[in-house]
Amino acid sequence: MTDTHPKKLFIKSFGCQMNVYDSNRMADILKPLGYDMAQEPDDADMVILNTCHIREKATEKVFSDIGRLKEHKDRRAEEGKNTIIAVAGCVAQAEGQEIVNRAPAVDLVFGPQTYHELPEMILELDGGKKKRRVVNTDFPVNSKFDFLPEETGNAASGGISTFLSIQEGCDKFCTYCVVPYTRGAEFSRPVEQVLAEARTMAANGSREINLLGQNVNAYHGDGPDGKIWGLGRLIRAVAEIDGIDRIQYTTSHPSDVDDELIEAHRDVKEIIPYLHLPVQAGSDRILKAMNRKHTADDYRRVVGRLRDAQPGLAISGDFIVGFPGESDKDFEDTMQLVRDIGYSQAYSFKYSARPGTPAAVMQNLVHEKIKQERLVALQELLFQQQLDFNKSKIGETLPVLFERTGNKDGQIIGRSPYMQSVYVQGNQRLIGSIIDVKITDGFAKSLTGDIVTSERICA
Ligand code: 5AD
Ligand code: SF4
Repeated sequence: MTDTHPKKLFIKSFGCQMNVYDSNRMADILKPLGYDMAQEPDDADMVILNTCHIREKATEKVFSDIGRLKEHKDRRAEEGKNTIIAVAGCVAQAEGQEIVNRAPAVDLVFGPQTYHELPEMILELDGGKKKRRVVNTDFPVNSKFDFLPEETGNAASGGISTFLSIQEGCDKFCTYCVVPYTRGAEFSRPVEQVLAEARTMAANGSREINLLGQNVNAYHGDGPDGKIWGLGRLIRAVAEIDGIDRIQYTTSHPSDVDDELIEAHRDVKEIIPYLHLPVQAGSDRILKAMNRKHTADDYRRVVGRLRDAQPGLAISGDFIVGFPGESDKDFEDTMQLVRDIGYSQAYSFKYSARPGTPAAVMQNLVHEKIKQERLVALQELLFQQQLDFNKSKIGETLPVLFERTGNKDGQIIGRSPYMQSVYVQGNQRLIGSIIDVKITDGFAKSLTGDIVTSERICA
């Protein structure tokens, strides 16, 4: 029998929102075993590091955290208490046994596809007479989604805005990227399963759903009509659920933006006017070396079509600078693309070689100093665009979804449809509602405003 006495569980999520979703589901799985979520690792009986392998730095952070957790474990051991340390996610998937070899304090290692087996893994740990450690990084034949307990609404932002994983893995094989190896082949959840989870989230008070996938717009799920549904069709069905006022989806590949999805942007008022659409680079030569399967002009065209369908659509992006062979001219092409698109927000990174990826063995490496200079130049441009975008909202009235209280007295914080944080003075009761706010100022990362009306009447 598994021990179901009350215990404390702390999960730290690294990296993408898919990990946040997975962490929430791990908490759902462990609840029946007596584990309650703790906000801090102090005195936790089990600590899970849900890791990210996408860039070098993300991996390093995990090992330094394990070092700190070992002290926590030793301290508790002196008090006669046991602590389970688990490493989950993509570093676990990629490194597997290596982790327990390198970090003896770690008891459990499991990948993104096997966390539904957590109760069995814990049993295996507890049951062993002499302490044994469990490494479980299979890609099982059956989808974990068929084994997970019902979603509890245990989601980001107290359940007002929730992540819903609809697709996993990636078949694109960009040459710098570990995702196809750590998350595996592309897999779409069936439509009914997604809709059932979305209905539960709505019933639990969620107003906004963020449909997640490593390559979410490659979604091709089995529909209830026996046909394969694309993302555009799925979004229309999610939009019909009572209580869901906002829909977004992350992360998309430009080549998988199809007509159906563009038409959804035109017709479905719940799709927020903000889209994360990574391009990575603006030079066709580099895009080809990255195996991105699109040119810079393809990307310009896709953004143009999306903006025609949904005027005012804000675009966010991801960029890699210093990919092997990137010349000054290639980098200038990236800067030009940024100027042409005009981003409301973006993430940019220096290229880091990931072992096992095709780019890791490429020649013509860009010198660290040049990478750094390019990153600074790109980030300056992106920062300016973000500030300009935020300032352009001053004087507009925007519907804001309030999610939490602020640090200042009487302050509440929400998000605009363009995803900026909006700070206003308002009653705490407004949390969970969408309220019109007149924007009074714009900063690099946030807006301020005054409440105009009470609860928006939704059609
Ligand atoms: N080096 C630097 N950045 C990377 N990304 C993915 N792999 C690498 C790498 N090897 C970035 C991409 C991707 C984001 C999640 O991380 O921009 O879109
Ligand atoms: Fe990685 Fe995204 Fe390329 Fe897939 S599309 S390989 S997840 S960068």
